[in-house]
Parts: sequence; structure tokens; C-alpha cells
Amino acid sequence: MERRFEINMHDFRYKNNHLFCESVRIEDIASNVGTPFYLYSYRTLIDHFGKLQEAFKEVNPLICYSMKANSNSAILRALVKKGAGLDIVSGGELFKALRSGCVPRKIVYASVGKTTREIREAIRRGILFFNVESIPELELINSIALSLRKTVQVAIRINPDVEPHTHRFITTGKLTNKFGIDFETARRIFLQRNRFASLKINGLHMHIGSQIIESSPFIGAIRRVAAFVAELRRLGVRLKYLNIGGGLGIVYKNERPQTAAEFASAVMPILRKTGLKIILEPGRFIVGNAGILVARVLYIKRSKTKTFAIVDAGMNDLIRPALYEAYHEILPLREISHSVRTKYDVVGPICESADFLAKDRTMPKLAVGDLLAVMGAGAYGFSMSSNYNQRLRAAEVMVNKNQFFITRRREDYSDLLKGEVIPGFLK
Ligand code: LLP
Repeated sequence: MERRFEINMHDFRYKNNHLFCESVRIEDIASNVGTPFYLYSYRTLIDHFGKLQEAFKEVNPLICYSMKANSNSAILRALVKKGAGLDIVSGGELFKALRSGCVPRKIVYASVGKTTREIREAIRRGILFFNVESIPELELINSIALSLRKTVQVAIRINPDVEPHTHRFITTGKLTNKFGIDFETARRIFLQRNRFASLKINGLHMHIGSQIIESSPFIGAIRRVAAFVAELRRLGVRLKYLNIGGGLGIVYKNERPQTAAEFASAVMPILRKTGLKIILEPGRFIVGNAGILVARVLYIKRSKTKTFAIVDAGMNDLIRPALYEAYHEILPLREISHSVRTKYDVVGPICESADFLAKDRTMPKLAVGDLLAVMGAGAYGFSMSSNYNQRLRAAEVMVNKNQFFITRRREDYSDLLKGEVIPGFLK
């Protein structure tokens, strides 16, 4: 069972000592597009989406892929074509979601800081509903809807105050976090819902954090929310949607995260009883292990205490190690099975000590020019990348079977000037 799970995890595998993505040798992509680049397996992507669909099929949920995890248009299009909706958090995401061919009725919109312009745009386009995070936001959406003469569906994001046992920076469902609304305030909103004449407040939303590897925090939170659904029903409030958010963890190192099937069988009994239309918003689970970052070793530098492998990808490309001390496995594209193993800090070229991809990592002996795959980089990799140090953002490539496609060209220097203006007095 365990073995099968591991084999199905992704489509990056060694064949004759060379790392392949599906049927393409990754070194061949590197010599064609240069480094660094992100590489995605279409099959893994679709496979993970399919696993969730399959696990939850009995309740026929709407799975709104959380596009903040990876918003490359090819990724969006691939998922949308398989029936996915999208979870968005900004006007920019709305723009890309629609461009990818997603129908507005499959778009849900969360964020604690939606602007007037973003709200207006989303209402005009006819998204399915807003996940609302505060009373002032409810009031604003209501007044914008009124001025547009539209009735807008809204789900209240509940902050269920649970501990998800994940990194503190990616915990969102505790009362000390800025997200969501406590039960008591939510109850008041529902009882006074007539105040919001242009809103149909007919859903509940929760999202308790990210990279959660066990089912128990989800079960705890969903139970509380389901009890709230029942209470509201007794109070005469009829709901339509229950959005249980995202947050499913994946394997980075040696975690044993719940599988989609395990997650579904744990929560489905509670969900079924609510009788509501179920929405899921996973990001990482779908795209995390479908992507890697490929980099080349520029230098090997030995100091008195450490050996550094300096590579051509840095924290501007993948910020997760710097920001969350996240672990990403690093594999050489050419496997050297019986080489001497050495301990490295794998670091980037950026002028910051936090610019590392791995610390004290025991790896086969590396040499200048070696190509490395940073695994599990599909989620919150490119989407959090930047031009810090005026580094060009990497290319993105997608493999489907034995072919690869550049899905975003590497930036060039002209991209660094895009939108910048030198004021007249400086000319
Ligand atoms: N729904 C809401 C309301 C969210 O805030 C998020 C993620 C998701 C869904 C998707 O969560 P997922 O299924 O991907 O765990 N940059 C961090 C993760 C931040 C997650 C932010 N919200 C990281 O690299 O670990």
C-alpha cells in the first residue's frame, strides 16, 4: 500500500541513472531552455486532481483549484479542462482565471483585503460567490451589488479556532490570525441578514492552514462548522454551500500525509449530513509534487566549516526554504549511485544569508556544471518568485508524455524595465 502510494506520487523518476519527467530526459530540456527553470508534469497534475475528484465523487463537489499555488496559464487551462473551478484572491487572479477559460460560475473569491474595484469586477463577471472575512467587507459588497443592481452570493468565512499543526506562518484558522469570523459574530450576521438586501448570505467557508498532514484538524473544524450549519437551520437560516477550503499536505521529506481517499473517508460522513453543496479549494495537493525547479551548480566553495554548492537558482526563484525553513529534496539529474557522499549547503547567488535551498544536506559528491532537481516545487514556487537582485524570473516548462512545452519564456533584461519611468527632472 505504502509502496504504491509512493510510486503514484509523481512522474519524476530515474531511468538508467537519468532523471526523467514522464518520458522526457530532463537534461535534454536543460540544454534546450537553459537553467534555472520550473518543470511540471501534466500527468502528475491531472492525476492529483483526479484523485480528489474520485475520492469525493459521492458528494459531487466543486473543486476550485487555489490558483495562488501556481497560476501559470497552462496549469490553469489543464485543470479547467478537467472540470476544475478556481479559488481566487485578487483582481489579477480573476483576470487570469477568466483568460484560462474558467466559467465565472466556478470561481470563488477569498481575501481579507478585496478592493472596491476588485469586488465590482467580480460581481460584473458573475462569480459563484465571495468568501467574506469581515463585516465591513459584507457592507462594501452589499453596497456595490446594490449600485450594480445585482444580488450576490456570499459565504461567511468561519475562523473555527483550531490548531492545524503546521508552520506558524501558514496557520490561518486560529483566532489570533487575521482570517475569518468567529462563530458568535457569524451567528449575528446570519440573524441580521436582512440588513444586506443585495446579498444572499448562503454559504460557510473555512480554511485552517496549509500543508496539514493529518485529518484530525480538518475533522475538528468541519465538525464545528457542521454543528453551526445545524444550529443555523434551527434558527431558520437555509444555506446552500459549504466550502471546506484547502490545506492538504504533501510529501516533501518523510511525512505520511493523508491520501485523498483517507481524507475523504474521514470527512465525508460529516459533510454528507449537512446536505450542502461541497466546495474544496486545494492548491498544494494538486500542483506541489507535479513540479520541480532545475538548477545548475556554478561553484563548489569550501570554507573552514562548510561546503557550499552555489547554484544558479536562488530565493527569488524559490523562497520557501528562506521563509518557512521548508525542506525540499534535491536530486542530481544524473544519478551517481556509489559516489562518496558529502554534506552541502545548497545556496543561491543572492546577497542574503537566507538565500539557501538546503542546509547541511548529505548528497552525492557534486561538481561544477552538475544539474540538480529541487523536488516538490510546483506549489508556491514560481508563484512566489520575484526579481530581487534584478534576477530574471525563470522559464516554466510542461511535459506531456514524450514532449515538452515552454509555458512561460524566461524573462529578459527588457522585462526588468517594464513599467518603470525616469521622471523628467532627472533627465
Ligand atoms: N484557500 C484559502 C482561503 C487559502 O488561503 C489557501 C492558501 C488555499 C485555499 C490553498 O491552500 P493549499 O491547499 O495550497 O494548502 N506560501 C505557503 C502557503 C500559503 C498558503 C496560503 N493560502 C507555502 O509555500 O507553504
